[in-house]
Amino acid sequence: MQIEGKRALITGAAGGIGRAIAALYLRSGARLFLVDRDAARLDDVIGALAAEAPGRVDGCALDVTEEDAVHRMVSAAQESLGGIDVLVTSSGAISETEIEDMPLSEWRTILGANLDAVFLACRAVLPIMKRQGAGRIITISSQIGQRGAPRFTHYAAAKAGVIGFSKALAREAAPFGVLVNSIAPGPVLTSFNKNLRSETLDGTAAALPLGRAAEPEEIAGAALLLAASPHGDVFLGQTLGPNSGDVMP
Ligand SMILES: NC(=O)c1ccc[n+]([C@@H]2O[C@H](COP(=O)([O-])OP(=O)(O)OC[C@H]3O[C@@H](n4cnc5c(N)ncnc54)[C@H](O)[C@@H]3O)[C@@H](O)[C@H]2O)c1
Repeated sequence: MQIEGKRALITGAAGGIGRAIAALYLRSGARLFLVDRDAARLDDVIGALAAEAPGRVDGCALDVTEEDAVHRMVSAAQESLGGIDVLVTSSGAISETEIEDMPLSEWRTILGANLDAVFLACRAVLPIMKRQGAGRIITISSQIGQRGAPRFTHYAAAKAGVIGFSKALAREAAPFGVLVNSIAPGPVLTSFNKNLRSETLDGTAAALPLGRAAEPEEIAGAALLLAASPHGDVFLGQTLGPNSGDVMP
């Protein structure tokens, strides 16, 4: 799959899925600008990947829910890479609360981390891709945005929002050569779910049709397909589901 020489901006790159996508893109010949708010873990990721491919990995730590920070992110990526061919929005956050116990602040935090951040990054990157006449935007949503889950009304609303947003943007951006798609993983073995209740985690993987959760590397292939040419050239507004069979739309 051809992404040789493509310039990719990846948010949430210090996390399990973001890092796996970054590593696969790098092995496939891309140049990377990596972003996460966890500066220490991001440094580790940039250091490890840059050791494999010196001169092809850069990045900076910032909070992608902050409008000014997102503008700084896109300017820095543009300066470092000389353009942005691929945007992957992999940052995200989760918590678990019954709706009657959920303060508005928690609702807003989860909507901000999972939906506002995607809007801000896409809005800032799109003018660059339009000027280039080409680009790929890959949002990371979730199977919970498709099927729902008790105690995750906020997260489900945000991720369903990401899917709807990605379809609308796909239609808006297609005339400019910019292809927008989403990946909706099922359970993935990262530290993302570490604070969820044991009753939520116990038995979840075993109940999947495949009987197991995914490794982050098993999600990265979908992100490679959507960035690649010619393999990804006719995907627009799709929601790819590497989800161990949890959702079969
Ligand atoms: N792990 C799963 O089971 C699963 C399932 C479906 C979807 N997802 C989605 O996949 C994406 C990646 O998840 P993951 O499993 O790699 O989780 P992760 O916790 O390993 O990584 C998420 C990363 O996002 C970063 N981040 C969070 N908020 C940020 C902000 N405001 N600014 C900058 N960085 C921020 C975190 O520091 C972290 O490094 C998320 O959007 C998540 O919702 C995960």
